[in-house]
Amino acid sequence: MTSPKARRPIVAANWKMNTGPDDGARLARAVAAEDLPLAQVEVVLCPPATGLTSVAEAVADSPIAVGAQHVYWESSGAFTGEISVPMLTGLAAYAITGHSERRQLFGETDLDVQRKTLAILAGGLTPIVAVGESLDQRDAGETLAVLRTQITAVLEALSPEQTAASVIAYEPVWAIGTGRNASPEQAQEAIGWIRDTVSAAHGCPAAGRVRIQYGGSVSPDNCDELLSRDGIDGALVGGASLDAAQFAAIVRAAAP
Ligand code: PGA
Repeated sequence: MTSPKARRPIVAANWKMNTGPDDGARLARAVAAEDLPLAQVEVVLCPPATGLTSVAEAVADSPIAVGAQHVYWESSGAFTGEISVPMLTGLAAYAITGHSERRQLFGETDLDVQRKTLAILAGGLTPIVAVGESLDQRDAGETLAVLRTQITAVLEALSPEQTAASVIAYEPVWAIGTGRNASPEQAQEAIGWIRDTVSAAHGCPAAGRVRIQYGGSVSPDNCDELLSRDGIDGALVGGASLDAAQFAAIVRAAAP
């Protein structure tokens, strides 16, 4: 399997339902003004849809990329409120799917996540596919089974090449926005299970290339111990990404 160092870490900011066009652009400029190891770490800002244009403009002269938080799998048509992948052309290079807030609050199913992931890849964007277990599932010893189900639902529709080009985010639901991050051991173990699942589905080369982030209460206080672990290829950051200095500290911690 490819050595962990062969994968370029990726740190993505999920601003969730925070910031509009102006304050989003301001935050993006503040991030870009930080001292970031952009040659070593890929950085992605995911503003709400109304901020995609201004944020894309704000980072146009920087290697910082922009991602969408949400897409629909159809290209166009009568889908009130939805945004398709072709509509992101020129604005975003990434799109998140399967975030637990979408799954829990908006009923996104494994099949939806599969369709969205395929649409994102077909449109030439990189999907960030989020998976993770709830606290009840962890306590019941079901973490591996839950992750396997969520990941397999997506992988079975993808080729090995598409899988290798994707990003997976391991985000235990109990760690999201709670201030209670997974321990480095828990994160490393779960990410190892995910990589094993990829390997079983698509072989070692794809498993060695796919980047798997950790997400859930990542902060400047815990990023060093999490992101220095082999196999953890960066982070998906919510709360701490709304502060440029905090986010920058996390990006720096991801540098090999
Ligand atoms: P958090 O969110 O960093 O605020 O826990 C992470 C996420 O939801 O992606």
